[in-house]
Formats: sequence, C-alpha cells, structure tokens
Amino acid sequence: MDIQEELRASVEHLRERGIGEVDVAIVLGTGLGGLVNEIEELLGISYSQIPNLPVATVEFHFGKLIYGKLGGKRVLAWQGRFHYYEGHTMEQVVKPVRISKMLGARALIISNAAGSLNPDIRKGALMCIEDHISLFPDSPLRGNNLDAFGNRFPDMREPYDVELSRSLFQVARELDIPLFKGVYVGVPGPQLETRAEYRYLRTIGADAVGMSTVPEVIAAAHLKIPCAAVSVITDECNPEHLTPFKINEVLTIAKKSEPLLTRLFAHFIDRLTFDGR
Ligand code: HPA
Repeated sequence: MDIQEELRASVEHLRERGIGEVDVAIVLGTGLGGLVNEIEELLGISYSQIPNLPVATVEFHFGKLIYGKLGGKRVLAWQGRFHYYEGHTMEQVVKPVRISKMLGARALIISNAAGSLNPDIRKGALMCIEDHISLFPDSPLRGNNLDAFGNRFPDMREPYDVELSRSLFQVARELDIPLFKGVYVGVPGPQLETRAEYRYLRTIGADAVGMSTVPEVIAAAHLKIPCAAVSVITDECNPEHLTPFKINEVLTIAKKSEPLLTRLFAHFIDRLTFDGR
C-alpha cells in the first residue's frame, strides 16, 4: 500500500465510525490535552483502532482522537502526537495532518511543550509561534511528491497564518492572557541539548526549542491548510545556569499552564470564521 492508499483507508474507517465534516483540526501536545474537555464530544476513537496509524509509544501521550463541537465548529482533536524521536518516519508523524485535511479541515491549530531560549520568556508562559527553523534531518515531503496534496516545492514564507495569529493575539488580549511571539526551532531529539547547542540555537534566532510541530507544519504548508501554533514554555534553557532536565517537571508546568492554553484555544476557535459561514 502506498501512503495515499494508507491515508484513504484511515479516512474511510473514520467516516464509517461516524466522523462527518471537519472545520478545525487540533493537535495537542505533551500534557496539553485538556481542550478536549471543552468539546461536546460526539466520538472518541483510540489511535490504536485507526488503521495505518503508528502506535504511540510514549505513555503520557494518550493517543485518542476526539470529534465533536466547540464554539459552533466541528472539531477534530488529536490528543497526543507522533514524534520523530519515537522512531516513526516523517510520513507517519504527519499522518494526522493529512487525514485532517482529507476530512475537510480548513484550519490547523497546534500546541506543544518547549524549552525557552529567550530570557524574557519564562517557564509557564505561552508563545505563539510566528516562524520556525527545522533542524530535523528529514522532511515529510521527501520522496515522490504527492501531487494531489500539494506542490513539489511548497512555499514556506508564511507557514503560520498571519490572520490566525492576529486573531489569537486579539483573543489573548481580551482574555488578559499574556502571549509572547517567537521563533520555534524543531530538533529531532530525544536527547536534550548541550550548553553549546543552546547557545547555537539562540544565535541562529530561535526563542524556543522542541521536538515536534515542524513536520506537521511543513505538511500543512504543503496542503495549504492555514495553521496556528502555540508553545507552552516548560523549561528555561539558559546555558550558563542549566538545571537537570526532569520530564515530570515539564509535565507539571504543562499541567499548570494548560487551563490558560485551553481558554485561549476555546475562545479562539469560537471566534474563527470561514468563508460563507
Ligand atoms: N529541548 C528540547 N525539547 C524540549 C525542551 C527542551 O528544552 N523542553 C520541552 N521540549
């Protein structure tokens, strides 16, 4: 089976299970799945039941797809994502994005946990990603181009939709939620960075570093789905004062900031409008 056949089989299964039209797809990052509690859930499907999806290996990623209503929109929320560091190919990592598009999604919203490289952006803060740098050794678009999905050489001038970001900031202002803006650098992981690497990442222009999002956003740019992404800053990567990385601390900080992110996303989705609706 080639990748398109695999995706079609996944989509067919989801349609048979009762997933109808989708307006907005949401990919929720590590420890940030709380938005699903705001969704008027119509269907919940474990990733393991969806044909051709890889098996998520990290125990704190639930791996559940939620379909329902939020703010008058039909949303598809991917609670848990596939990471490159788990050993999945890039093609596997971006399957949720492509499936979302095939189900009709007209916008993609992404969250992740990230380390801050910018001393002004502290633990617990939210950062709207305005651009990214990919340090992944691979691209989800490598290989034969899937012409039905997009161009051979997709433009990456504006992978994060300007209008969506503007609306995100507007909503954040109204809700009095501090929202930073910055550049996210995507690294393959799973090891954290050395002090020298943190210095390097800061020097090349990044404000936050993480091990996800970039592949999904590249796939979204290929598909021309407008996309918005927010990082929850879970650790501060000051090379001169590095503390040992503890995943439990990352999860604790993510949990603490999650209600803020959930409020922001819920209001943002409520506010979204699509042509003619
Ligand atoms: N580095 C890479 N990925 C991360 C970090 C980090 O410091 N924090 C959360 N994800």
